Amino acid sequence: MEIRYRRPRGTRDVMLEEMERWRDCEERWRRVLERFGFGEIRTPLIESTDLFVRSVGEGTDVVDKEMYSFQSKGGENLTLRPEATASVVRAYLENGLTRQPGTMKFYYMGPMFRYDRPQAGRYRQFHQVGVEAIGSSSPVLDAEVIRTALALFEDVGAENLNVQVNTIGCKVCRPAYVESLQSWAREIRSRFCETCQARMETNPLRLFDCKEEGCGELLAGFDPIDQSVCADCSSHHGRVIEALDALEVTYHADPLLVRGLDYYTRTTFEISARNDTRQSALCGGGRYDELVEQCGGPSTPAVGFSVGVERVLQHLWPEPVDPQRSRQSLVDVMMVCLDQPAQIHALRHADRLREFCRVEVDTTGRGIKAQIKGGNTRGASIVLLAGSDEVAAGLFQMKTLATGDQVAVTVEALSAAVREVLES
Ligand code: HAM
Repeated sequence: MEIRYRRPRGTRDVMLEEMERWRDCEERWRRVLERFGFGEIRTPLIESTDLFVRSVGEGTDVVDKEMYSFQSKGGENLTLRPEATASVVRAYLENGLTRQPGTMKFYYMGPMFRYDRPQAGRYRQFHQVGVEAIGSSSPVLDAEVIRTALALFEDVGAENLNVQVNTIGCKVCRPAYVESLQSWAREIRSRFCETCQARMETNPLRLFDCKEEGCGELLAGFDPIDQSVCADCSSHHGRVIEALDALEVTYHADPLLVRGLDYYTRTTFEISARNDTRQSALCGGGRYDELVEQCGGPSTPAVGFSVGVERVLQHLWPEPVDPQRSRQSLVDVMMVCLDQPAQIHALRHADRLREFCRVEVDTTGRGIKAQIKGGNTRGASIVLLAGSDEVAAGLFQMKTLATGDQVAVTVEALSAAVREVLES
């Protein structure tokens, strides 16, 4: 066989058992998020490029290197969304929700696109589940949002997590800090790695993101940002910490946590898998009190996070699922048909059974033994057999796989008979 087409690098096919795992997690997450008062939002996968350039920020890896941007036939500059916070803020403003009283709490699930170097846990199309709570500046909300993220992990049984929290100040205190960091770094420029040398010009705060040991040692000589924030940011941070303690959340203060997107103010946080050398950040988020205004709305505080779905699933099930060895979707009843009239007979009566259970009609025309075996591998409890005699008499032979018992059942009595076996 010659495979003509392959999926683009950095993308994945999710199917069979792995798909069941995804669905299970997604269903659980919806329930958790709705219990925390979030309502679902779906925004387009494409947005105007400018939205991300201005909100995520020039000088970030996402905007500078990772966006799938293109010009449409109509000449619009569009981008496949690399994240969803900017889209939610855009939707909040465009749909006139600034007039809604209280905090607007949204959640989303869906694909994001970043042209990053693919590796384990890092894809070019990946999925996030995230929340955005818009309209409250309370530090208690920061703590509740972090608690929400942890509830998502708890509900699917993800353990061994590390919660890191920091504050990165606001437009009042950060510019002076960034400026002094930049002039300090420029003086010892040549001792930094190449990436840091570029970052100190475009986005100096991201120097703290560097994984190079040498750069880390140099940065130990400069006070991290949490020491330099203004009194308001410092008091906000103190109250976030107080609320986290009151909620009994275990966290680590990490003064080096700066995050890779530009819109954050005050609280930033990440949740990562401990003892995991691969891409370990499972969740990232924080406050972005200036973004709504920056996108043209009234000054409105907000906070949120996004969880990387692939990474959580890999944390829960480190062994990849092999589609070749993966079982197909399960059914309760397999209808085994000897010929085409029997297949039609089965199809006509399958609908009534599908009102209360999962039914597959085998239309392959293969031998009875193979069809029954197929029922077994699909997890069926019952096989319903039909050939020309059954079609003529208006019945099915009902075989209960656990016991091997077989009885003839009329089509009128079929639902009740199947139900009785399934419920026994
Ligand atoms: P982020 O840190 O860029 O934040 O992404 C959040 C999470 O998405 C990461 O922790 C990771 O689990 C996952 N992720 C990111 N890039 C990839 C990738 N290439 N492959 C697989 N997984 C990936 C945001 O996106 C912000 N919008 C979070 C936020 C919401 N802040 C406030 N509200």
